[in-house]
Amino acid sequence: MRNSTDATRLGINRTGLQMSPEHAQEMLEGTQLLEMDMPAGTSDEADGQALSAMRQEYIAMADPLGSVPAPATLKGAAKSGAKMLTGRRPQVFIDKLSERLAFERGGTRLYDAVYAKALASKGDISKVPAEELLEIRNSEARHALLIKECMETLGADPTAQTPCADLVGVESAGLLQAVSDPRTTLAQTLHAALAAELIDNEGWEDLMTMAREMGHDDMANRFKQALDEEAVHLTKVRNWYTLLTMETSELM
Ligand SMILES: [Fe+2]
Ligand SMILES: [Fe+2]
Repeated sequence: MRNSTDATRLGINRTGLQMSPEHAQEMLEGTQLLEMDMPAGTSDEADGQALSAMRQEYIAMADPLGSVPAPATLKGAAKSGAKMLTGRRPQVFIDKLSERLAFERGGTRLYDAVYAKALASKGDISKVPAEELLEIRNSEARHALLIKECMETLGADPTAQTPCADLVGVESAGLLQAVSDPRTTLAQTLHAALAAELIDNEGWEDLMTMAREMGHDDMANRFKQALDEEAVHLTKVRNWYTLLTMETSELM
């Protein structure tokens, strides 16, 4: 496979208006004609107000993304050793735990693909050690297992798809798609991984605060450790990404 530098070569790209000024002019004239044809009082629809109005109609009719199943401790069916959930709306904590589990599981799959990309990127592999990518991958998998364990301690079902788990699944689909695309370079792949790590760091921070507030200090301490590990992931990915990108621009 080509390295990150080869991928940004100059070439024939017909996607921009500058490629054909004549057609660009025709297109702009067409747009103006279209606006002139609109019935009086509707020209403001061209600036997105009609779309916004339609979106608001759909939002008003929409169901929520899903629901959070009641944990066993709330149903009074706590197993011995299960920790009671406190707070007025403990389902929010369960939802955020599910979210983290979904993201960490997705992160494991993401790094499987980053690792493969690194192995295939012969020119870049000396700068981005594949074994360190594998370490991050395994760290994400351990994080997913940590959340699974914590959820079981609370009597919650780690296999349930809660609203926030659904949300991050949809959000991270684009990241996985970018990383899995055989055409993206290692530098481009690391850009997607960088986005995931920024979300990771934010996510553990929130979860740690929430666990602490709810009186689950033992969990909060374990989440703090995960957060420290995420900080290491972030630094590494950021450095690799910067190194490869600066190198492609020959600024380093
Ligand atoms: Fe993670
Ligand atoms: Fe991470």
